Amino acid sequence: MRRFQIPVYIDEYTPDELPADILPLKRQAEIARDHAYAPYSHFQVGAAVLLDNGIIVTGSNQENAAYPSGMCAERVAIWAAGAQYPGRKILKMYITARSAHKTVNKPVPPCGACRQSILEYEVKQKSPIEIWFTGETGPIWKTDSLQNILPLIFDGSEL
Ligand code: THU
Repeated sequence: MRRFQIPVYIDEYTPDELPADILPLKRQAEIARDHAYAPYSHFQVGAAVLLDNGIIVTGSNQENAAYPSGMCAERVAIWAAGAQYPGRKILKMYITARSAHKTVNKPVPPCGACRQSILEYEVKQKSPIEIWFTGETGPIWKTDSLQNILPLIFDGSEL
């Protein structure tokens, strides 16, 4: 038997420490978050992706009275980018969340299904996607590649 560890690399920023070039993406994610359709959970999530042509595409969670028919912000954003700008690489994603019930003061990572969906694009484009995530307040966490937060990947090479 051999036990080994797989490290997860996260860079933590305070809002004041954020590099200037991430601020437009952050702003677009916040606008998307504030327009989320979340009448059931009251948990609003916004995601913004930066493409290699400089365009920013956003998404927010879209809920449904039949709960599983709703969709997370990250997948709305990444699928919109894939549909509207096929062939473009996704460089960065910024995710932000807030709740009507409490102050979200710690980073909100993408759920497992969203990580798998983002992974598909990272594998397809053969280059990493930087993931930034945060709550309404508190630190911002960044990781250089989606695969850092989904270390054991299942992708098309398995098939
Ligand atoms: N949600 C997201 O949009 N992204 C995530 O990564 C986690 C959860 C949404 C789905 C649902 O509308 C609400 O947050 C509560 O789960």
